[in-house]
Amino acid sequence: MQNKKKNKLEKGFFISFEGGDGVGKSTQIDLLKEYLINKEFNVICTREPGGTKEAEQIRKYLVTGNKKAWDSHSETLIFNAIRREHIKKIISPGIEDGAIILCDRFIDSTIVYQGLVGKVNENELLDLHRKYCYNLFPDITFFLDLSSQKGLNRALNRQDTAENRFENLGLNYHNKILNGFDTLQKRNPNRIIRINADNSKEFISSEISSSIKKILNINE
Ligand code: TYD
Repeated sequence: MQNKKKNKLEKGFFISFEGGDGVGKSTQIDLLKEYLINKEFNVICTREPGGTKEAEQIRKYLVTGNKKAWDSHSETLIFNAIRREHIKKIISPGIEDGAIILCDRFIDSTIVYQGLVGKVNENELLDLHRKYCYNLFPDITFFLDLSSQKGLNRALNRQDTAENRFENLGLNYHNKILNGFDTLQKRNPNRIIRINADNSKEFISSEISSSIKKILNINE
């Protein structure tokens, strides 16, 4: 039997998924992964906070427990430490190897959660990103746009209810998060693609894969 050749990119491609809590990012990442694997690409799925073994351990201190456990400045430092290792050990080697990286949240989450909403100065955030996180931005970001109420309902009905530290900050907070992503998308219309996430998962997935098909010039 003839071995199919992997559709290897010369340089990898970095895609992040963003949005409020409970918008369905992980489902969409799974579906896009399936699509790209069918097209013979090398795909790496990863997430923040997390990605490396150590960061997955730190993750639980960030997403569980008391909502006042960390203020936005402390969170900023932790997210940057996690991101630096994540880029160094997972994302950059993947890009070098010609893979497509699908990442659940990245720098835009810090700009929105800790910056626009948490009030950490945005220039400071960008400065930290330049100094410690190689100033790496995704090639493309999908912003899954869903009303905060619907997102929160979904997030709070999930099986793993322990990971609810951010969800417990309430609707008013999550409306600000949604506005933050909206602002960021309007500022970066070329990089950040807005997807109406108030649709079936199949419909959302077909919107995402047809964008990627155009961007990466994928044949039928
Ligand atoms: P995630 O597991 O993606 O949450 P969900 O599945 O509910 O969308 O992310 C965990 C939480 O971490 C999320 O509420 C947002 C927060 N977060 C930040 O505040 N700043 C960051 O830089 C990142 C990556 C995540």
